[in-house]
Amino acid sequence: MKQKTTFICQNCGFHSPKWLGRCLNCGEWNTLIEEVEELVTAEYSFPASEPLLYEEIKEARRQRIKTKIEELNRVLGGGVVLGSLVLIGGEPGIGKSTLLLQVSGDFANQGEKVLYVSGEESLEQIKIRGERLGLRDGNLYLLAETNLERIIAQAEKLSPQVFVLDSIQTVFSSKLSSSPGTISQVREVANQVFRFSKRNGVSSFLIGHITKEGSLAGPKSLEHMVDVVLYFEGERDHAYRVLRALKNRFGPVSELAIFEMGRGGLKAISNPSAFFLKERPVEETGSVVVCTIKGSRPLLAEIQALVSATLFSGNPRRMTVGLDHFRASMLLAIVERKLGYSFAGEDIYLNVAGGLLIDEPAGDLGVILAVVSCLKNKAMPPDVSVFGEVGLSGEIRSVNQPLARLKEAHSMGFKRIILPEGNLSHLEKKDIPDINLMGVKNIKQALNIIF
Ligand SMILES: Nc1ncnc2c1ncn2[C@@H]1O[C@H](COP(=O)(O)OP(=O)(O)OP(=O)(O)O)[C@@H](O)[C@H]1O
Ligand SMILES: [Mg+2]
Ligand SMILES: [Zn+2]
Repeated sequence: MKQKTTFICQNCGFHSPKWLGRCLNCGEWNTLIEEVEELVTAEYSFPASEPLLYEEIKEARRQRIKTKIEELNRVLGGGVVLGSLVLIGGEPGIGKSTLLLQVSGDFANQGEKVLYVSGEESLEQIKIRGERLGLRDGNLYLLAETNLERIIAQAEKLSPQVFVLDSIQTVFSSKLSSSPGTISQVREVANQVFRFSKRNGVSSFLIGHITKEGSLAGPKSLEHMVDVVLYFEGERDHAYRVLRALKNRFGPVSELAIFEMGRGGLKAISNPSAFFLKERPVEETGSVVVCTIKGSRPLLAEIQALVSATLFSGNPRRMTVGLDHFRASMLLAIVERKLGYSFAGEDIYLNVAGGLLIDEPAGDLGVILAVVSCLKNKAMPPDVSVFGEVGLSGEIRSVNQPLARLKEAHSMGFKRIILPEGNLSHLEKKDIPDINLMGVKNIKQALNIIF
């Protein structure tokens, strides 16, 4: 029998009967790969389930298990939920296996039974890493295997509480004839592990490699299948690693944890504000410290602006890193209209230091002050930190959690805070730390205080 083949986009899962240079669905180039067409769905037989009355559904008693790494628990929303499937993505060599082996050892040490499956490394290689990390006693089982059906069979037999698969791209299902790492295989692996987890109430972790373009193979088709998506990022030359939640069915997203990679493995950094401000240039123009909120926690971050005459007239650049591009354009338009500057001949670069992403409007005032500091060639006083949303007429609007922001700035040694007048008037005197607060109603007032 001649096998029917189809071309599948490895980025988005789009099917095409013939090869295309560019995917019609997501627009990526050279992502279509020929795969054998298979009808796998037909042979799945699920046990039929009955509808249950809401009141009759019992609440699971033990819902989450926690690691000793408090920062990881927080990113997961307070520990890992039993029976949930967590996908951890990251670039090659960033430390995914290290993190998961550490976590596995930690769970095992607390009395959970853990199965760590590797399709990439031998048991001896994993043991060497484990020795370096100083893993202690516990029910930690290792398995080196790449066949998914055999892995699931072993997992059913061992019946662990925690299951780790390293990595999703190296394991293959024998139900499919396409090679490991293709979108059909990756989906099938995630699908089978998902059903194994739910069936047995096992907390499972899938490790996924991210391609150079910054996406997991078949990201769009995987992210909706799993409960939690975490990204592990960092510069390979630096010891710092950031773990962030991109999706979480059981907790807030935009939580992040920072780790330091050393010989003994990953160590959580408990004061991220200090980390993000560590290399801040003092008395430099275009640099402003903002009090932002990341997930459930306040964080100080440095916004940097650079304005320089454009080389190609008529086409000035607007580059933003770590800020929403449209929001930044809007803020630049406000600076032009309300403060009378003109950027027609200027390139403008905006950056949040340390690779942080500021995705809340409370950073607005910081962006505007950074740009104006650059234009005026005047540095911000080093003891000032700011927060506030900016509206289209240049008014400063209140933001959430003002007190948490003030306390974080205070604890980091800032003496003066510029904040929305609306927030200031609603704060209770007795709660406010001993710090100089300057409430402002519009951007002109803020500029008068600073410059
Ligand atoms: N002896 C050591 N001392 C300090 N750091 C080490 C040591 N050995 C390895 N590392 C660090 O561990 C990291 C590699 O970790 P790991 O193998 O967990 O990454 P990974 O994301 O699983 O990689 P891969 O894509 O190869 O699976 C590297 O950043 C490396 O610098
Ligand atoms: Mg690895
Ligand atoms: Zn596509």
